[in-house]
Amino acid sequence: MDLTDIGRIVLRWAHAVAALFWVGGSLFLFLVYRPAARFLPETARQLFEKAVRQRFRELVNTAVAVLLVSGMVLTFDRLSSPAATTAYALVLGTKIVLALLAFYLALELGGGRRVSIRLGRHLVGAPELILGIGLVIYLLVAILRLLYERGAGG
Ligand code: HEM
Repeated sequence: MDLTDIGRIVLRWAHAVAALFWVGGSLFLFLVYRPAARFLPETARQLFEKAVRQRFRELVNTAVAVLLVSGMVLTFDRLSSPAATTAYALVLGTKIVLALLAFYLALELGGGRRVSIRLGRHLVGAPELILGIGLVIYLLVAILRLLYERGAGG
């Protein structure tokens, strides 16, 4: 193992942990915090929600910065390998576009703007969209790993 390998390990770790904080944090908000907060009295809930939003926004800002920087280096590293086939590049491109969309939605949300899209009869807000995109990105990562291993002959 040389210095480049250690750099790769640190980058992948930072990228994976930042993704975990963002997507895992969003899942926690939806599955645990939101249902539990309904039991709080209205005024306490509003105050608590404001504090949670503020703290989560700080966490997401850091996660986005780490994901962008580590993601760019990982992209150059992966694409410079012969194991990166056209299919790999296409799936990676889709992942990056989706990630940029999620970053944009997070920025709008942080600025206090309401973004939503209509899916049939349902209005889907930015937090739900970000979580959905994050979960799709995890699926694309699983595909990327498989494509990369195949490209490397593994
Ligand atoms: C919402 C934002 C993002 C999430 C949730 C996310 C998530 C992940 C996860 C979980 C991995 C697997 C890490 C590992 O175990 O090695 C990964 C790998 C990777 N990500 Fe991201 N990522 C995001 C944004 C980005 C961005 C913006 C870029 C590029 C600019 C990027 C490029 C990559 C690359 C090249 C890999 C390596 C894929 C492979 O295994 O072949 N990611 N990402």
